[in-house]
Amino acid sequence: MDEQRISSVLQEERTFAPSREFSERALISSSKSLAKLAKSAEQDVVTFWEERAKELAWFKPWKKAFTWKHPHAQWFVGGSTNLSMNCLDRHLADARRNKAAIIWEGEHGEQRTLTYHQLHREVCKASNMLRSLGVVAGDVVAIYMGMVPEAAIAMLACARIGAVHNVIFGGFSSAALRERMNDSKAKVLITQDGAIRRGETSGLKAAADEALLKCKSVKHVVVLRHSGDSVAMKARRDVWWHERMETVTAECEPESLSSEHPLFILYTSGSTGKPKGILHTTGGYMTQVAYTSKVVFDLHDEDVYFCTADIGWITGHSYVVYGPLLNGATIVMYEGAPNWPDAGRFWDIIERHGVTIFYTAPTAIRSFMKWGDQWPRDYDLSSLRLLGTVGEPINPEAWMWYHTVIGGERCPIVDTWWQTETGAIMISPVPGATVTKPGTATKPLPGIQIDVVRKDGTSCKPNEGGLLVVKHPWPSMLRTVYGDDKRYVETYWSEFPQSKSHPGWYFTGDGARKDTSGNIWIIGRVDDVVNVSGHRLGTAEIESALVSHPAVAEAAVVARPDTVKGQALVAFVTVKATHARADTKKLAALLREHVAREIGQIARPDDIHFAEALPKTRSGKIMRRLLREIVTGAVATGDTTTLEDAAVLERLR
Ligand code: PRX
Repeated sequence: MDEQRISSVLQEERTFAPSREFSERALISSSKSLAKLAKSAEQDVVTFWEERAKELAWFKPWKKAFTWKHPHAQWFVGGSTNLSMNCLDRHLADARRNKAAIIWEGEHGEQRTLTYHQLHREVCKASNMLRSLGVVAGDVVAIYMGMVPEAAIAMLACARIGAVHNVIFGGFSSAALRERMNDSKAKVLITQDGAIRRGETSGLKAAADEALLKCKSVKHVVVLRHSGDSVAMKARRDVWWHERMETVTAECEPESLSSEHPLFILYTSGSTGKPKGILHTTGGYMTQVAYTSKVVFDLHDEDVYFCTADIGWITGHSYVVYGPLLNGATIVMYEGAPNWPDAGRFWDIIERHGVTIFYTAPTAIRSFMKWGDQWPRDYDLSSLRLLGTVGEPINPEAWMWYHTVIGGERCPIVDTWWQTETGAIMISPVPGATVTKPGTATKPLPGIQIDVVRKDGTSCKPNEGGLLVVKHPWPSMLRTVYGDDKRYVETYWSEFPQSKSHPGWYFTGDGARKDTSGNIWIIGRVDDVVNVSGHRLGTAEIESALVSHPAVAEAAVVARPDTVKGQALVAFVTVKATHARADTKKLAALLREHVAREIGQIARPDDIHFAEALPKTRSGKIMRRLLREIVTGAVATGDTTTLEDAAVLERLR
């Protein structure tokens, strides 16, 4: 890691306090009550989380709330519960029974509403369907779907019977799907004929068929009919969702699962090649996701909550499906693209469904800005009362636009910092209590201990850039990297290992600074991970996709700033002698396609530069830092004494 890169010049002085009207109704309604809560959590963090866990239903109470054997935490040990029961059954005894749980809208305009009662029935049936295919607690079920209600139903059904879901983003290629199914040893795959986005169908079942050619663990494939496209059904392996669902009953008792029973695996990119299967478990995840949804989004029973994330990402898990349902909220789930059939689609959805809380990503906000103010201005957005963002630092211009044009200067904005690994929100304003500043996620939530430290572990001074660490384990933290505990230890716990003074700190991989008021400003990743459109991609993963092409000898991928996507991908490629005469324009197009096929469209490099050689250290490591300086136009201030051949750098410049 490279501390020279941790510098920040942002000086933001504008402040925004919540209106009195907002605060008066809010669950946490003043900075005083928030400070009091934070203080009690600081004094006894375990009891704080225990109290939160008690707000949920348990079959059996825990014996020990927290255990720590570096770097493995357990929460609510000895307790047993069920996440699907907490999301559904718990709400059936009161008026929420007939409340809308999911309001779904397809890209073509179709609409479906599932009440809690109806959702519960569907989930019970889907659980029985999985059981009829031999799925038992502990088995892994892969889910490769678009944004359809059945995706949420499938997740909840797994949770109900203790199967571990592994949701693979529908935009990933068959190669990426295969890798993730193989690594997790998935037993069943749930997919659909085709997913619809921007007026087009992408053949998920066809991609799955290709992936399954080299995937031995999957015994059955459940196929949802959605787009209506014809698909090949393999006898004995493939079953139709609608046919199977007819053969099962709607009664399925939730299994009593131990608090540490695995809930899901979700793959995320790291700085080395292979994606990491982040493993989350039941009780702690449930507790923190429920609590953060409630206080960060200030969820009230009348709210209509719309989070635009795809279920293929952690935000889709924690804040489309589980968090809101744990709170008995009404969720709007939208299938398609924000600009289909036109750029007013989200605003139209907000007006028609009376959305009160809207949660999206900075990259989306920058796209809305580009499309123009007239789109939101054409709709009545007065139902909105709270806005949120997640995924990357939000630039102050985008924050101000969001505040003014979407929020009508009336809605607080919660800029939420967290990660696939953290499972739930860690740093965020609490909307009725926090004075916000554009560009900072403000302070850690109660119960979360976060600091910005130097490499030697000492705390940074105000405004000094350093490394963002979590100093006490938290309930929804990842438990390991599936099948690779060594990588878990190395990636997250080796930077600040256990010592005499502390029990080991979790390293987030982010650089940050704290201002004089204690607000945390995220500067960005300090490893070779890039953040494109709010999605984390490992440069190593893209590089290995590039070198898997027969023309490529070596590749290095870095990011340059992009006004909409946050970061754009730039690949430096050297070609093999056998392809030295290739038409570079054609080859660049081929390589971009190749990466899209290997990983997915999101990983497609924006620029490809062909080079004779890449800058390397004497030990042969590619110096990406120098390439980064070239593409960002930054002055090469860093040390180049380890560079093997300075002429290479000159030529690249
Ligand atoms: O660099 C931080 C950035 O996104 C990373 C986590 O990515 P992922 O696991 O894909 O999860 C994204 C959705 C939770 C972080 O390490 N990040 C996320 N939220 C913010 C952010 N950076 C700045 N501000 C945020 N609010």
